[in-house]
Amino acid sequence: MLGIVFTEFMEMVEERFSPEVLDRIIEQAAPANQGAYTAVGYYPHEEIVALVVALSEQTGLPAAALVQAFGEHLFGRFTQSYAALIDGRRGTIDLLRQLDGDIHVAVRKLYPEARLPRFHVMSCEGDTMRLAYESPRGMEALAQGLIVGAIRHFGEPLQVDWEHGTYEGRPVSVFHVRPRS
Ligand code: HEM
Repeated sequence: MLGIVFTEFMEMVEERFSPEVLDRIIEQAAPANQGAYTAVGYYPHEEIVALVVALSEQTGLPAAALVQAFGEHLFGRFTQSYAALIDGRRGTIDLLRQLDGDIHVAVRKLYPEARLPRFHVMSCEGDTMRLAYESPRGMEALAQGLIVGAIRHFGEPLQVDWEHGTYEGRPVSVFHVRPRS
């Protein structure tokens, strides 16, 4: 996994909790390099999972809620560090339509070893979209947080949830974006 995910995660822990909590989770998760990540390095996916588990134990908050909050934080950071890839999108649904074929394609050009998920637009009409998510890493909570971050960024009255489904006969997770009820 790309180092930027780790550096942003550690920054969020420091900001939302404290530097002491960060020290404790690094100690508990014991990553190979003692938590010395660089934004452009690549590290094992298992290390971010171990850090999230440690944070969940230290704070008593559920891991999925922490990962979702991290996704929201990360989208905010992406709007700064990758403004060119986000500016000009009309809104969340427009951005999600172009995620797989455009945004993540650009990410792969920047970072050839990035491990990116696949997204497929299953239906899209007005303010309602069904988007299939496929990844061996199963990071639905992160995707949900990123989408919530996008909705907040564009200031739209939308909500998102997801459920298990199928796409072209394969098991996927289906994200449903629609007007807030
Ligand atoms: C709401 C929009 C987005 C969603 C739902 C989304 C979803 C995801 C998810 C779930 C992952 C984790 C990997 C996996 O699931 O297999 C991921 C990785 C990543 N995404 Fe996106 N993404 C979004 C927008 C963006 C944007 C705007 C950028 C930056 C321009 C970006 C850059 C990345 C990077 C750098 C990774 C890490 C790749 C790695 O660790 O190797 N994403 N994305």
